[in-house]
Amino acid sequence: MGIPPPLLDPFAGVGSIPLEAQRLGLEAHASDLNPVAVMINKAMIDIPPRFADRLPVNPRDRVRGTAGDAAWKGAAGLAADVRYYGEWMRERAFERIGHLYPKHNGETVIAWLWARTVISPNPAVNAPVPLVRSFVLSKKKGRECWAKPVVHGKTVSFEVTKGLPPRGEDGTVKRTGARCIISGEPIPFDYIRAEGKAGRMGAQLMAIVTEGKRGRNYYSPAQEHTQIAEVQNRNGSQLVTFRRMRWDLGFNCTAFTDLAHSFHVDSLKC
Ligand SMILES: C[S@@+](CC[C@H](N)C(=O)[O-])C[C@H]1O[C@@H](n2cnc3c(N)ncnc32)[C@H](O)[C@@H]1O
Repeated sequence: MGIPPPLLDPFAGVGSIPLEAQRLGLEAHASDLNPVAVMINKAMIDIPPRFADRLPVNPRDRVRGTAGDAAWKGAAGLAADVRYYGEWMRERAFERIGHLYPKHNGETVIAWLWARTVISPNPAVNAPVPLVRSFVLSKKKGRECWAKPVVHGKTVSFEVTKGLPPRGEDGTVKRTGARCIISGEPIPFDYIRAEGKAGRMGAQLMAIVTEGKRGRNYYSPAQEHTQIAEVQNRNGSQLVTFRRMRWDLGFNCTAFTDLAHSFHVDSLKC
């Protein structure tokens, strides 16, 4: 067979080629300009061989077996440690921030969809109105639903409704500008930008998304969830997981904390 040649994949991506080369016994080298790809390659190809056939060090697993035990062949010891300390970190995180992620209808929430709001420039309205490109939540056949805006006087609330919005009634923001959902009058982008710069934009929960047994479920906003976010806001975090984040950025996100929901900012502080 002779000595196998080394292999270099300079554009390794998720590392399939160097991984297979390593499995065939070749010396594998990989690089990529994407740091995520580099991290995946490190985790798959670089780190595991350094711990090959080593016993785990975590207290739960290290008592089971001795060096050379068949149970800890290859990367099994390392995998046991990653599992153990991963669970440990998840439990600590849950203790500290789990209360910020209440379940809804017994299901795990996977997203809160917020809409930016701006005070309507119409002085007769003078109340916050949502800025949303589309109210559609799901276009999945048979499971279509949308966050229907309901106007009561000067307040707007959202109700998750089956089907899709009537033609011409989807969203309050178009390429040319926005419209006040209460009065129907236009809201120029210049006005929204000025309000954003002045720190006068708000946010309103449009829908809660959960992981159901048959896929995603969408629910109307629940007070408990809005309250948690408001408390976090008062504590100094900013509220910002918005449905149209890229669009939103143009208006007033100036800090890193503007890019994450207050809950997520809190988890970063842990
Ligand atoms: C198609 S993927 C690689 C697939 C991989 N070779 C495989 O077979 O699984 C292409 C990769 O090349 C990386 N890439 C593109 N231009 C590059 C450059 N100039 N230097 C390094 N990596 C680059 C990209 O980040 C991407 O991960």
